[in-house]
Amino acid sequence: MALNIVIMAAGKGTRMKSATPKVLHKLAGRSLLAHVLKSGEPLAAATRIVITGHGAEQVEAAVQAEGISFVRQMPQLGTGHAIQQVVPALVGEGTTLILNGDVPLIETPTAKALIEACAGHALVLLTVDLFDPTGYGRIIRNKDDGGVLAIVEHKDATPEQRLIHEGYSGMMAAPTTALKCWVGQLNNNNAQGEYYLTDIVAMAVAEGLPVLGIKAGSETEVLGVNDPVQLAQLERAFQAQQAEDLMRAGVRLADPARFDLRGTLTHGQDVDIDVNCVFEGDVTLGDNVRIGANCVIRNARIASGVRIHEFTHIDGEKQGASVGEGALIGPFARLRPGAQLGAEVHIGNFVEIKNSTLADGAKANHLAYLGDATVGARVNFGAGSITANYDGANKHRTTIGDDVHVGSNCVLVAPVTLGNGATIGGGSTITKDVNPGDLAVARGKQVALTGWTRPTKKR
Ligand code: UD1
Ligand code: MG
Repeated sequence: MALNIVIMAAGKGTRMKSATPKVLHKLAGRSLLAHVLKSGEPLAAATRIVITGHGAEQVEAAVQAEGISFVRQMPQLGTGHAIQQVVPALVGEGTTLILNGDVPLIETPTAKALIEACAGHALVLLTVDLFDPTGYGRIIRNKDDGGVLAIVEHKDATPEQRLIHEGYSGMMAAPTTALKCWVGQLNNNNAQGEYYLTDIVAMAVAEGLPVLGIKAGSETEVLGVNDPVQLAQLERAFQAQQAEDLMRAGVRLADPARFDLRGTLTHGQDVDIDVNCVFEGDVTLGDNVRIGANCVIRNARIASGVRIHEFTHIDGEKQGASVGEGALIGPFARLRPGAQLGAEVHIGNFVEIKNSTLADGAKANHLAYLGDATVGARVNFGAGSITANYDGANKHRTTIGDDVHVGSNCVLVAPVTLGNGATIGGGSTITKDVNPGDLAVARGKQVALTGWTRPTKKR
């Protein structure tokens, strides 16, 4: 039986008070709509249709991928009107699953349960018991057998109906053929003058079709985002869940309330993470990794035994960054895309590394820049020294052999090569290659003027 997945995402999201369409606002680094699509991903569907309207071009560009199609709803006259637009795109006689683009944390097993209960012939609603159901459509049940009779929208509900705490989550699974027929019969004679999708419930009941209400496992799963307050609340709920999952898997978080993961974190055993760290994209931490407070780490692989001190920023962007076993990084270090550090490398405060390879045991402990460089084993790169890798038009490489000692305040003007074991005197500006084992000094000679008298101020 063919499955259609339809995600309604045409609404304006007025209460966000933002130029960005609501469904593109981010939760844990990914758009609300992307979360919904991800939950639907494991389901074998014949179609995945996103209904767009407000900011359609932006929304479509943001989530376009193979297997996803878009149907535009212009203007937006309600959820029933939205589904009317997709009728021609629905395939088969099986089930159509309807999800909301602004309810990001719906879980795959819940969606699966709706589809299975529908089985192409029952109308299945995802409902939720809410402490405060204001704004939600209410589930009206038969007093005798508890069967679902209808959904009444909050604005259309009587005072008695508003006392009902069971609300409609906005998600359902419906028999495709019947759904097409029902949405054709909707009208907008209601408090909001909209075509309500929820009116199909009474139609199904009138036809004698089974209508089931399945209750969501948690409230978080069905919470929608309507304003920045709800977005932040859902973000915290999601982060708390991720933190708990990691702690149950053995990761030690100093404070789960001060931890943010916007992507995936793969980890070994005995990982310690201090407060206020943010992980983005794909991050891998090996065994016994310890991360100090206030670090931001994005798209990076950190090997076993690495110690990352406080306030370190690592961003591998698309290229990635990697840190070898037992390395010491920070505090206040910055690793950029293409930083590849070997085992036992030490990177200290205010050192920036970009697109550079450092072999085992190399050290740059203070105030340095290594860009487009290949650095050998056990090199000591002095305080305040830099590679001048950019001539204003092009980037050039610096190659530093094993056991090279670069003194403080040196400028290595690329392209340049320092042979194994070379020594560079402090304050040198190196523009020519240095042979292995040589000492290169390229700075003004010190002169002493004995008895020098300082100038005095003229009257
Ligand atoms: C809807 C339900 C309500 C339910 C609530 C749960 C209806 C009539 N009501 O109300 O029973 O309790 O969700 O959150 O369905 N959308 C479109 N096109 C439109 C209008 C909306 O695509 O013309 C999309 C929105 O972008 C959103 C979703 O449909 O993703 C829900 O729309 P919204 O206006 O938020 O419906 P509610 O009034 O919250
Ligand atoms: Mg809503």
